[in-house]
Amino acid sequence: MKALILVGGFGTRLRPLTLTVPKPLIDLGNKPMILHQIEALKSIGVTEVILAINYQPEAMARFLNDSESKLGIKITCSQETEPLGTAGPLALAKDKLIDESGSPFFVLNSDVICEFPLEKMIKFHKAHGGEASLMVTKVDEPSKYGVVVMEETTGKVERFVEKPKTFVGNKINAGIYLLNPSVLDRIELRPTSIEREVFPNIAADRKLYAMVLTGFWMDIGLPRDYITGLELYLEALRNKGSSKLSSGSHIRGNVLIDESAVIEGGCVFGPRCGNRTRMRSRGRSDTLARPLCNARARINKHARISNRIIGWNKDKRSGSLH
Ligand code: GDD
Ligand code: MG
Repeated sequence: MKALILVGGFGTRLRPLTLTVPKPLIDLGNKPMILHQIEALKSIGVTEVILAINYQPEAMARFLNDSESKLGIKITCSQETEPLGTAGPLALAKDKLIDESGSPFFVLNSDVICEFPLEKMIKFHKAHGGEASLMVTKVDEPSKYGVVVMEETTGKVERFVEKPKTFVGNKINAGIYLLNPSVLDRIELRPTSIEREVFPNIAADRKLYAMVLTGFWMDIGLPRDYITGLELYLEALRNKGSSKLSSGSHIRGNVLIDESAVIEGGCVFGPRCGNRTRMRSRGRSDTLARPLCNARARINKHARISNRIIGWNKDKRSGSLH
């Protein structure tokens, strides 16, 4: 089975982090976002992941070289010469996506985090016999997403409306699809949107089905959502009783400290903190509450940092950041 991850997009809403690193390579829970996805795909038997890229290809290529052998899965790139949107990249990678068995393939937006119940999705897809499946989740503010109106019992999608201006419903496209190869016949090789041009057509043919996602979900494309995504991820680790979470008298709540972090002195972490810094935080008053610290940041004594994403190679000497 194969999968394509939509990696392109400039990640403008996450600048300045995305000026130097593509959005999928930004850490969430101390590992690049895209690794969460590739590991989930591998765990259910996906053998090849195609990364659809149009921005910062060098950074992605470096990641590929490092990861392919470490992860034990084939990862290839499909490079666009102009941004092809969310459907055009599928047409570009058509030959790579189709295999002899004619099996369906996964497509993922690269900026979504959840528990990836992909096995369940395969069962759902086989059972309904339609052409395409997507995962949906309920949100309070649906207007910034693709909204799905569906039959509750069967999951058959009646309407798909991308970023509606008026209220349509509160179940939204979670950015995870399982598609039959026939969907590729609906997509032309040009800049085009799967949400605006392809899904509404499949829904009109009554061949689009939606499965309600269990557990947490977040699109981390905005700084605030990125921090919320980390919190939800840490909470899910807590609920699973994961041993990855840190413990000790200096830990408050859900905290994840990478083994590469260097921590000195009596600093306090949490609640809700992901930390991958080479941190030299000394002194009893140092507190990190709800931040996300990236590799090679340095935080010195008498610093208090809350609700912040600390970038790479940052040197925070003292004082507060809220
Ligand atoms: N290769 C490639 N080329 N990828 C692209 C391009 C492109 O031209 N444009 C966007 N992408 C990728 C992005 O990197 C991201 O992984 C995905 O396509 C979706 O783009 P976003 O820019 O993040 O879209 P969105 O968040 O506004 O909306 C989408 O995601 C929502 C869920 O998070 C839509 O799919 C909505 O329907 C959905 O609800
Ligand atoms: Mg997004």
